[in-house]
Amino acid sequence: MKSKRDLYSYDDIVYEQAEISGNKFNLLYSFAMIILSVGVVLLTVLKVFRVSITIVLPISILAMILFILPFFILIFHDKIIKKNPSLLKWWRYKYVIYVFTYFGLLAIDLTFSFHAVILIVIPPLMAAQYRFIKRDWIIIFITTIITIPLVLYGSILIGIPDLNIFKNMIEPDKLNDFSSRLSILTTKRCFEIFIHYCLPRILAVIAIDFLIAEIVKRNREMLDKQAELNKKINLQMKKSNDLQNAVIEELASVIESRDINTGAHVRRTKKYVEILCNEMMKNDKYKDIMTPDLAHKIISASPLHDIGKIAVSDLILLKPGKLTPEEFNKMKIHTIKGGELIEDFFKQFEDDSFLKEAYEIALYHHEKWDGTGYPDGLKEKQIPLVARIMAIADVYDALTSKRVYKEPYTKEEAYNIIIAGTGNHFDPDLVEIFKKVRNEFEEVINLKL
Ligand SMILES: [Fe+2]
Repeated sequence: MKSKRDLYSYDDIVYEQAEISGNKFNLLYSFAMIILSVGVVLLTVLKVFRVSITIVLPISILAMILFILPFFILIFHDKIIKKNPSLLKWWRYKYVIYVFTYFGLLAIDLTFSFHAVILIVIPPLMAAQYRFIKRDWIIIFITTIITIPLVLYGSILIGIPDLNIFKNMIEPDKLNDFSSRLSILTTKRCFEIFIHYCLPRILAVIAIDFLIAEIVKRNREMLDKQAELNKKINLQMKKSNDLQNAVIEELASVIESRDINTGAHVRRTKKYVEILCNEMMKNDKYKDIMTPDLAHKIISASPLHDIGKIAVSDLILLKPGKLTPEEFNKMKIHTIKGGELIEDFFKQFEDDSFLKEAYEIALYHHEKWDGTGYPDGLKEKQIPLVARIMAIADVYDALTSKRVYKEPYTKEEAYNIIIAGTGNHFDPDLVEIFKKVRNEFEEVINLKL
């Protein structure tokens, strides 16, 4: 189940995309800082920078580790926790990137004292990549504010004094003396430092944060409008999809009603196909083939599998006994007729993405794995996957339903007949899928469809 905060107020792809692009941008930034840190170390070693290597090296390594950590957490989360590449959607991930990159910057800042730009501008700019809610802003604002005095006192203790602050506080020849630096930290001095150094910077942070918060707010309003629009489009699509499915089911039921007086066969087989497709999506062997989009098409198309029966005479469809070979040959025509009807019908539409599955289901759902089926006697994987799925659903329902010529088989008998059909009637891999969903199939029999 999704976290309540996963996508904030709307469960919408727009916000998800906004979060993902924010994460991508800041990861890229974090990577750039790693390169920068390596460059700084090299330039220091080459003595281009006149900063003590004993300070630059440990702090640059610390900064690099901090910048690199979000990448490790990405891999850790991806491989161990989620086992699929969905990390950039994880709502907490922005804090991981933000916190580590921010502290990496802080480490660099302690070494090189270029805090004015880093402390005031970069953290809110990083935060601005996301669609933040108020509480997030407060966290980032406080983190930034606390850092200002921290950097100042850290600088004093490490011994990289900001000349503007120390100019009038310590004798120039005592700048490198730790106890002299420490001696300035009296309450009075701390107060002076706070007033003259920290406060102006804090005010600058507040001003910049306000500015960026406004930009984020406007960005958020635009996203809200886009999300609202998406919602309307999705609703409209759902309505037309429901209508399409209802028309297909009704059409198929009308044809079925000549045969068994009910549309229940259509609805149950649809349910069986749905169960098989859902299980295939979870299965290692099929999860790359059975995408949600394909599953949706197969499920929606499944009610049309016997649409070709419209061309079969009532005398054959309603015959209570066994069909003669001649009658059976006429019955077989429903597959070819069904394929033709679907082709003619769907080619009238610009979007014919539904055509392929519906066509293959209608034409090939009576093919058998060993090549003894009809109409074309296709064998094994020559038979389209959708038709192999439909075959199991169709036969299972035929077995467990009452027909004019037979009583229903029990659940146990029907299960055993499908298993016995492994490798001759049915695709062995799909029978394995069927075995896993036996209980779900048996629950469908009890449903009043
Ligand atoms: Fe059929």
